[in-house]
Amino acid sequence: MDKILVLDFGGQYNQLIARRVRDNRVYAEILPYTTDIEVIKEKKYKGIIFTGGPNSVYDMTSPHYDKSILSLGIPVLGICYGCQLIAWMEGGKVSTAPVSEYGKIELTAKSSPLFENVPEKSIVWMSHTDYISQMSDEYKSIASTADCPYAAMENKKKGIYAVQFHPEVTHTEYGNQVLYNFLYNICECKGDWEMDSFIEKTITKLRETIKDRNVILGLSGGVDSSVAAALLSRAVGKQLTCIFVDQGLMRKNEGDFVENAFKNTFEMNFIRLNCQDEFLAKLKGVSDPEEKRKIIGSEFFEAFWNEIRKQNETAFFAQGTIYPDCIESGKGDAATIKTHHNRVRTPDDVKFLGIIEPLAELFKDEVRKVGEKLGLPESLVWRQPFPGPGLGVRVIGEITKERVSLLQEADAILCDEMNRNGYENKMSQFFCVLPGVKTVGVMGDHRTYDDLVIIRAVTTDDFMTADWAKIPYDILAKVSNRITNECKGINRVAYDITSKPPATVEWE
Ligand code: XMP
Repeated sequence: MDKILVLDFGGQYNQLIARRVRDNRVYAEILPYTTDIEVIKEKKYKGIIFTGGPNSVYDMTSPHYDKSILSLGIPVLGICYGCQLIAWMEGGKVSTAPVSEYGKIELTAKSSPLFENVPEKSIVWMSHTDYISQMSDEYKSIASTADCPYAAMENKKKGIYAVQFHPEVTHTEYGNQVLYNFLYNICECKGDWEMDSFIEKTITKLRETIKDRNVILGLSGGVDSSVAAALLSRAVGKQLTCIFVDQGLMRKNEGDFVENAFKNTFEMNFIRLNCQDEFLAKLKGVSDPEEKRKIIGSEFFEAFWNEIRKQNETAFFAQGTIYPDCIESGKGDAATIKTHHNRVRTPDDVKFLGIIEPLAELFKDEVRKVGEKLGLPESLVWRQPFPGPGLGVRVIGEITKERVSLLQEADAILCDEMNRNGYENKMSQFFCVLPGVKTVGVMGDHRTYDDLVIIRAVTTDDFMTADWAKIPYDILAKVSNRITNECKGINRVAYDITSKPPATVEWE
């Protein structure tokens, strides 16, 4: 398989670059700029992309790289900081630009293999304060803007190209064409990264590894573990045991939905542990959010591993880890934090034949494609993210059976109305929160003093920042009306109109 290396110099769009390459059916992987050149040589990449980064190449604490990478005979494309880095490594000059360029800028492109099928004038996305003020003699300028004479340059003989703009973002009109040209005209990739062949190859590999032995997977019903389950089921059928811990803190009927999606459709042993009572007993009287999270986490751990101990067998342990969980970033510690968050801790007394992570090469959108191809229901593949502690973080304060089911009822009405009106996929996440606040109301001739429910909905690309989503008023009116009529104990509905930051998506 052809491979492209995205060498990470700490820019914010680095995962996006790899995703765009893969959208063009070429496999891309990301390595930090601290990777030894010998490792890079061994991997036989068809091309290398230097990413952007927040630094100035003249600052010696900025990320740099061994200059010989430009003489390996492997084509290189530098983007933004990566572009300046190439200029500097090759003996050109980089300085503070008289005019910084941010946002959409008109580019004038010249003839180059990198700009095939790109018009002479087009809009690109720029974000830089330094620029190339002088190119080395071996390079030729292939594009300019009003304020940037060397907005792109090439050394055709060496196969080295550099662009000051960001081809990976959609604001760059012909950005994908530029990447396509690099991959196919310059690196001569074949375009052999496809989900069908990924599935085929992975199934073969899983069979070779697992042979006639067993494999255990913790299934949460989220996209990643569901797709991992479907893939493993295809590979080894009944040798797979999925353990689904239902802590009774899922949305209404979701436990049954997950069970139905797997139990009768995919060949496997499916174990559902209904632990609501045990969880609630441990959570009794606890209202501190961090304490609740800790209890839910450790109870989950107990329930899951006790079941595995009961099975008392030697098996492989599988997880739905995906590529962004594994990337070691050019910025340092960011990835380590995520790894801890996403990988399940295994207790010392349980031994496995090995850990299997069949999705560790895939980005989320690729995981979804695989899920669709394996025949998982659309509603599972496109499921909204759901926090590990479930409704435990949406029932503010103490969690009781009654409060969980009150929230489930209200939340089910919101979901129902959003689905009926075709809004199920128009927002990144929507849900109800029970803040534990009682307010005065009037129903018939009676004064009431009942619970308040909050509607929360967001749109976001990465959940690091989010906008509050604008659900149409008529849907909100219907939801409010139905909740106050159908959910006994709720007399008021409010709508959260806060973005992230300063708020977070969840309320706890
Ligand atoms: P916040 O509330 O941090 O949420 O803005 C961002 C995204 O993460 C989800 N979330 C969690 N997911 N365990 C998880 O697995 C958690 O403890 C947790 N807290 C928040 C949240 O639903 C949103 O998608």
